[in-house]
Amino acid sequence: MLKATLLKATEAGGKILQQYFNGSFQIDSKSTVNDLVTEADKQAETAILSAIRETYPDHYILSEEAGEISTPSNTKWIIDPLDGTVNFAHGIPLCCVSIGVEVDGEVIMGAVYNPFMNEFFFAEKGQGATLNGQPIRVSAKPELAKACLVTGFPYTWEDEPNDPVVVFGRFIRQGLPLRRLGSAAIDLCWVAAGRFDGFYEHKLNAWDSAAGFIIVEEAGGKVTDFKGNRFSPHQKKIIATNGIIHDELLAAVNGK
Ligand code: IPD
Ligand code: CA
Ligand code: CA
Repeated sequence: MLKATLLKATEAGGKILQQYFNGSFQIDSKSTVNDLVTEADKQAETAILSAIRETYPDHYILSEEAGEISTPSNTKWIIDPLDGTVNFAHGIPLCCVSIGVEVDGEVIMGAVYNPFMNEFFFAEKGQGATLNGQPIRVSAKPELAKACLVTGFPYTWEDEPNDPVVVFGRFIRQGLPLRRLGSAAIDLCWVAAGRFDGFYEHKLNAWDSAAGFIIVEEAGGKVTDFKGNRFSPHQKKIIATNGIIHDELLAAVNGK
């Protein structure tokens, strides 16, 4: 039932994104002039929430635009109705719906749907990860020096040791292929599918990472914070890899 509702809600959100894509829609700014929210984010969120509430009216909700709707339930839906809003607003089809389900503080299911590439990623704890129903697995790349990486940048950050620009500069100087797609949920799923060997980002919110986190783990990868502790979506820093290059990437991000 939980899985069916997750799939239904994710599809409902994706359908709304398709309806708005490349059309004309209202765009507003949030924390900075380029931290955007569009009509599509809000309408997708409405469709997702109503799909969940049809079956589970009492579940706890943490959703990017609606915020925290707390209930006594031990099941929390962690929702990004549109991850990659800047891409979406520019007609770049690298964006998705991302929904994670947490039970008793543990993410047990996740779905990420990019309707523009017809890619639906799903994982359930202990059951593996899939792309459009087919099992996926992280890459077998043995060393960082030959890895293809992806990262993202927050809308704002503090200058500090190993901040996003410093780390980015370090990899570029080494000549490592390092991409920036603009959707953390897609970045994570593409690590899970073996397209990228590793992903790191300095400042994500729970709705960016919850679903992708379990999808990477269930595809055989490893996800931690910048200290190497098992990842929790309720803190901001993330490193996700095929597992093999994890320690190397962790050390490189930390300037060691
Ligand atoms: C953003 C994207 C981006 C990441 C940012 C996120 P949004 O989410 O995931 O890739 O670099 O940190 O905030 O604003 O498009 O939902
Ligand atoms: Ca996001
Ligand atoms: Ca978003």
